[in-house]
Amino acid sequence: MKIGVDYYPEQWSEEQWRADAQEMAKAGVKLIRVAEFAWSKLEPSDKQFSFEWLDEVIKTFSQVGIGTVLGIPTNCPPLWMYQQYPDIVRVGPDGNRIQTGIRGHRCINSPVFMGYAKRITEQMVRHFGANPAVVAWQIDNELEAYPCSCEVCKAKFRDWLIDKYDSLENINAAFGTSVWSGEYSDILQIEPPTAYPQAWQNPSLCLDHYRFTCESVAEYAKELALTIRRDAPKAKITTNTWFCENTPDFYKLFEYMDFVSYDNYPTVSIPKDKEEFYSHAFHLDLMRGIKEDKFWIMEQLSGPTGSWAPMSPTPRPEMIKGYSLQAIAHGADNILHFRWKTATKGAEMFWHGLIDHSGVPGRRLFEFSELCKTAAKLSVIDTTEIISEIAILYSPDDAYAMKIQPQVEGMYYLEQLRYFHSAFMHYGANIDVIPPTRDLSHYKLVIAPTMFVYDKAAAENIYRYVINGGTLVMTNRSGVKDSNNNCIPDALPTVFKELIGAEVTEYDPIGSREQTITDFAGNKFTCRRWCDVLNVTTAKAYAQYEDNFYRACPAVTMNRYCSGVAYYVGTVCKSDFYESFAGNLMRQTGIPRLKGLPRGVEVTTRTNGLDDYIFFFNNSEEDATITLPKAMYSIIDSSGKDKLVLKPFEMDIVRK
Ligand code: GLA
Ligand code: ZN
Repeated sequence: MKIGVDYYPEQWSEEQWRADAQEMAKAGVKLIRVAEFAWSKLEPSDKQFSFEWLDEVIKTFSQVGIGTVLGIPTNCPPLWMYQQYPDIVRVGPDGNRIQTGIRGHRCINSPVFMGYAKRITEQMVRHFGANPAVVAWQIDNELEAYPCSCEVCKAKFRDWLIDKYDSLENINAAFGTSVWSGEYSDILQIEPPTAYPQAWQNPSLCLDHYRFTCESVAEYAKELALTIRRDAPKAKITTNTWFCENTPDFYKLFEYMDFVSYDNYPTVSIPKDKEEFYSHAFHLDLMRGIKEDKFWIMEQLSGPTGSWAPMSPTPRPEMIKGYSLQAIAHGADNILHFRWKTATKGAEMFWHGLIDHSGVPGRRLFEFSELCKTAAKLSVIDTTEIISEIAILYSPDDAYAMKIQPQVEGMYYLEQLRYFHSAFMHYGANIDVIPPTRDLSHYKLVIAPTMFVYDKAAAENIYRYVINGGTLVMTNRSGVKDSNNNCIPDALPTVFKELIGAEVTEYDPIGSREQTITDFAGNKFTCRRWCDVLNVTTAKAYAQYEDNFYRACPAVTMNRYCSGVAYYVGTVCKSDFYESFAGNLMRQTGIPRLKGLPRGVEVTTRTNGLDDYIFFFNNSEEDATITLPKAMYSIIDSSGKDKLVLKPFEMDIVRK
């Protein structure tokens, strides 16, 4: 368990490196990440490499016990390269080349750029690969599913389509181009989606283009990983990811990486409305689920954020430490804070690090130093893992398809996933977030929200799970689209009708209008966004609507199917429904529930088979008291406790 910081030696003097190394060592830093944007310093002109300064950085920090994560600087090619090859700059959806001098503007499909990218990677690996102070490699930075419209990308996309569909005729059929005279009579007529509102564009084209960009970026990362491995077979390789406008397909992106890294910026403004999600636990579970393994945080919140947006409030006391420990609770094993010192130059000078522009260590650094001390006590959990009995399925295709065609005001793909996630957290359960094609056989409960776009392997996997005795929950907007993102001409949820034992006779996209449902026990809950009016075949009603012309029709159903059970939630409710429903599901499937947890307290368990370590994180602005069923040993305070009293954003970890 190591704590570190992101560091930009190219922005500071050599004397400053030495002073920073001392200060970092004092604070307890064990890792730095460097160089991911420093190409112009590493190759100041074509084929002239300059690595000595970085040798010096690595040495300076390793002398005080700090290891280095080395960034491959391909995110920011030097301007001499653009001058020589203007075509390597990305073309935006508006048809214009992106302005250089800002970052991430290279086209990752450009063979010229790729040649340079591989060469700098190879040179760096040959130079630094055997250095024992280099503990891991980061490829590029926050790779996205870049929608580039340059000639290279266009040609590559057309080839990709032909490869997939064999002929123009098949592409026309798959895309349904007979609508609005969109039939292609020449492959050169196929253009990537433009800046024109996506809603007016062909949804099949948009989804395929997203798939293409996801594959392109994964291929790019793979090529660079292979380049590193060729000369440094034992290198540990990653790339850092996040959720963004063009969120990549994480499963593809990390296929050839050794581990997942996530850039974690939890919110510092806790919303008053309890329906607003602010816990980052869902994202952390999703990151762990990518490789079903522990992961790193390559960038972690350190101060007020800002620069591209007005600044956020500063993290409250305990947030810097608490949010890092929260990540550890969910499977992070090394955490680097972004960044050591706040930049005094460049576009990002108001995205604060641990130390402000003044250079004077203050409250945030002191708290970070406390985190380093705490992490040093956590070696006992290095060998633990997180075992979950509940899985929530996340699909990049479904997420993107719902972005292409938002279904109703207020509805977005992650919402229902997060409602379920929060509800299970409310009972202290571990939860895996995984793709729909993973082996589900060891889960007692699987939540499959919004299986919007048909994926044969996923549908079969889900059926198999229930047939073999699993308990499944599906939701509205499932079975809507075929794999080409066209509507399936059948009663919803089409391919899942048999499984859920019910069909949708009509739906009502009510948006923000609020209605009521009543469950079998007479409990009333507010619903909104969407109402599937269900007609049961073999299912039973779990809850029914109270309003509108579909009053008394089932809103939530339960169906026994082969050895398993499949629920269907036809509407979107508020958190009280999901908590009540989750409680019932857990009881029925024999998953233990912690009852009476104060709101905002998150409980995660890591185990090594012998001992369980239970993390109690107070993710709220109120003090929280938790009475333990028996006295347990706190590895934070090295003492026995039968009651935990947690300040806002404080964490305690007890051994069971
Ligand atoms: C991202 C990037 C960093 C930095 C931070 C904060 O996470 O990876 O380089 O820009 O945002 O702005
Ligand atoms: Zn391009």
